[in-house]
Amino acid sequence: MLPLSRFAELHTPFYYYDLDVLNRTLNCVKSLAQARDYRVHYAIKANSNPVILKHIAGSGLGADLVSGGELKVALEAGFDPSKMMFAGVGKTDEEISLALKHHIACFNVESVPELQVIDSLAREMNTIAPVALRVNPDIDAHTHAYITTATAHNKFGIAIEDLPQVVEQTQRLPNLRLMGLHFHLGSQITIMEPFQMLCHRVNELLTYFEDHGVHFTMMDMGGGLGIDYSQPESMAPFEQFFDVFSQNLNLRQGQQLHFELGRALVAQCGSLISRVVFVKENRDKKFVILDAGMTQLIRPALYQAHHKIENLTAKVDDVTDTYDVVGPVCESSDVFAHDEMLPVTHRGDVFAIRSAGAYGESMASHYNMRELPLSQFSR
Ligand code: LLP
Repeated sequence: MLPLSRFAELHTPFYYYDLDVLNRTLNCVKSLAQARDYRVHYAIKANSNPVILKHIAGSGLGADLVSGGELKVALEAGFDPSKMMFAGVGKTDEEISLALKHHIACFNVESVPELQVIDSLAREMNTIAPVALRVNPDIDAHTHAYITTATAHNKFGIAIEDLPQVVEQTQRLPNLRLMGLHFHLGSQITIMEPFQMLCHRVNELLTYFEDHGVHFTMMDMGGGLGIDYSQPESMAPFEQFFDVFSQNLNLRQGQQLHFELGRALVAQCGSLISRVVFVKENRDKKFVILDAGMTQLIRPALYQAHHKIENLTAKVDDVTDTYDVVGPVCESSDVFAHDEMLPVTHRGDVFAIRSAGAYGESMASHYNMRELPLSQFSR
């Protein structure tokens, strides 16, 4: 339940985070992962609000990073560097050195040139860098094209056919320690088949490398578990997700399984709260114009995502009408929803755009010189 009375006095737009929803989600994931001895890392990119980060760090999860900036905020929030993984196709020398300085758990490496640079920087710093090789397993995750990461033509990872040779090259670099393999299929994956296929692909690789005398201690299956955007505050199907791996993956003795979940941990605890600036009619269409736009939440404009929209001011039995719900930004893509059925809406009404805790605030921008959104918390 969103506390409308608290919102009435507040300057909009802002993100409202329900910390009870977040805690419930974290507790659920922790207990399922602990029971299976799986390690979960939170993908910082999903939401790097300091209060949210502190909460997640406090729950004991690790962190999945993609930049030096994320490393810094993760440290500030109290994440343990020995539980940090660093992914990304374009890590700079400065970012690699910073991560080496803090002795993070593992670099998820995407190419041979990157391996060579990490090796030489580690040598300069007189240290050994733990690495995992990110494999592109050529699996279609059946999600939006912009968030599909593991098909053959994506920029991510090392092609599966090149892997044996890259493993050999890694083993020859003296300042690297090869820990294991890393995969990430994409994001907002709502069916389990792609994860099952991933398990089968990994089983084949484990057998191949075992036959060739290579033993891995870590397998990182990435993130990608989707949520139900039509049911705000609902729990992602964590149990089903983990079961896919416990039922299909043939891990060898001493191999630890890791995950990097972002969206499924934070999406449902956040709502974007906004006020209606104007209601306008143009030919046969009615528009609700909010004071939040694609600068606060870009997902509808960028991925044609639909977030549930609620008019918090309206009464349950108000008559309804059909509106396009849009933002104030000077782009026709600045639309939250087309033909949305809503209670009859007036200037000044307070709206909530739900399930916006992941990739909302973290993707906000200053475009049109707009202010970055503020945040409020349930307690
Ligand atoms: N690990 C790696 C290597 C990743 O690239 C990502 C997300 C994750 C883990 C976390 O994935 P998740 O569990 O959150 O699906 N902005 C887009 C999503 C981009 C995802 C990028 N990588 C959106 O709003 O839908």
